[in-house]
Amino acid sequence: MQQKETLIKIPFTHERANPPFEGDDIRYPEGLVRHFLKTYTKAGDKVFDPFAGLGTTLFVAEEMGRTPYGIEADRNRFEWVAGQLEHWQNLLHGDAAKIGTLGFPKMDFCMTSPPYMPKHHKWNPLFAGNPKHAGYDKYLKQMGRIFGLVADQMKKGGIVIVQADNLHHGHIYTPLVRDLSQVIEKSLTLQNEIIVEWLNPKPGYTHTHCLIFKK
Ligand SMILES: C[S@@+](CC[C@H](N)C(=O)[O-])C[C@H]1O[C@@H](n2cnc3c(N)ncnc32)[C@H](O)[C@@H]1O
Repeated sequence: MQQKETLIKIPFTHERANPPFEGDDIRYPEGLVRHFLKTYTKAGDKVFDPFAGLGTTLFVAEEMGRTPYGIEADRNRFEWVAGQLEHWQNLLHGDAAKIGTLGFPKMDFCMTSPPYMPKHHKWNPLFAGNPKHAGYDKYLKQMGRIFGLVADQMKKGGIVIVQADNLHHGHIYTPLVRDLSQVIEKSLTLQNEIIVEWLNPKPGYTHTHCLIFKK
């Protein structure tokens, strides 16, 4: 039996300059996206990122001849990314919870990194802190809902890759990778978990996790 890849080593290098309004704290490096696009996609494939952020998935997809689609809730990030994409009309400003209403085509591949929430925080990033939706349980429930919609948007057999980190705040530990995996598994099948070791890491950030799901 062929052994599945469980550890990869990728340089923690950002090739694109930072936007004027923020650093690169939320971005994964282009090399990570390139690795998975080479493995799972071919030219012309439709590549989706429902939490597009600073657009790494979309930029690399476009460079590699795939067609990018995405959603980003933050207006500054949305405008910065759309302004540099050839397929700018495929990036929508809005809420990933509305995926099904936005008129996207079925996707071949999805790679994303969702907004993080530590379990002891009340501020739920998926609802811009709205107190009606406060707390980690509601965050996880909404993540499950959103990835259910991502699953509906994928072609049969499509791969969905979720990059995430476990969180340490003093003595409080949030097993975010496990918790996200559990809610996403309600609508997609977990195939593998890859540890990504960063070459030339920044202090305190040596590795990350990529969960590989299939529709
Ligand atoms: C971790 S960042 C993604 C970074 C991205 N992978 C990159 O390399 O640039 C998560 C993004 O999700 C966005 N976001 C948060 N809630 C959202 C929602 N409900 N719908 C769409 N985007 C959302 C945040 O504004 C943030 O830019």
